[in-house]
Amino acid sequence: MNIRKMRVNDLKGVLEAWRDAFEKEPRNAGEYLPSFLEKNPSFCFVAEENRKIVGVILGSFNGRVGYLNRLAVKKDFQGQDIASKLIGSAVQALRNTGTTSIFLHCKPNLAPLYENFGFKVDKDNVIMRLKLD
Ligand SMILES: CC(C)(COP(=O)(O)OP(=O)(O)OC[C@H]1O[C@@H](n2cnc3c(N)ncnc32)[C@H](O)[C@@H]1OP(=O)(O)O)[C@@H](O)C(=O)NCCC(=O)NCCS
Repeated sequence: MNIRKMRVNDLKGVLEAWRDAFEKEPRNAGEYLPSFLEKNPSFCFVAEENRKIVGVILGSFNGRVGYLNRLAVKKDFQGQDIASKLIGSAVQALRNTGTTSIFLHCKPNLAPLYENFGFKVDKDNVIMRLKLD
């Protein structure tokens, strides 16, 4: 298993990995991913097994703080530390920007996965959402 930076021509494999892990394709992913990657080429990673993409994480940096999004590992490859390696790669890349914080949101059951890297639930803030559709 190999972790490497995501490339534009990984789009199909990334969508497949998301579809498999999330059981549905993220809405508009095919459209936003190329521009997301163009803006954040240093912070998005894939895990490859036999040249097939089996895991993905999107990292981004807005000039001030970092974000992690859309972590996924294909079902057949879960439980092998692949997500942890993807998180580690994205965290290291974001650390290299000099930023002092990385944010993410996740289901409560996945908090321990991120706590392994030092993430903590931020009790001073809540996630708010304005639904527009
Ligand atoms: C969540 C996900 C990315 C984990 O991938 P993975 O490669 O299996 O994770 P790892 O093997 O690196 O797990 C490391 C640790 O994280 C925790 N963990 C991983 N998956 C978990 C789950 N589904 N529920 C609770 N804890 C979990 C465990 O503590 C695990 O350690 P253990 O194997 O010793 O028990 C994968 O299950 C997935 O793609 N799920 C569907 C998509 C999703 O929910 N993405 C997260 C968006 S925030």
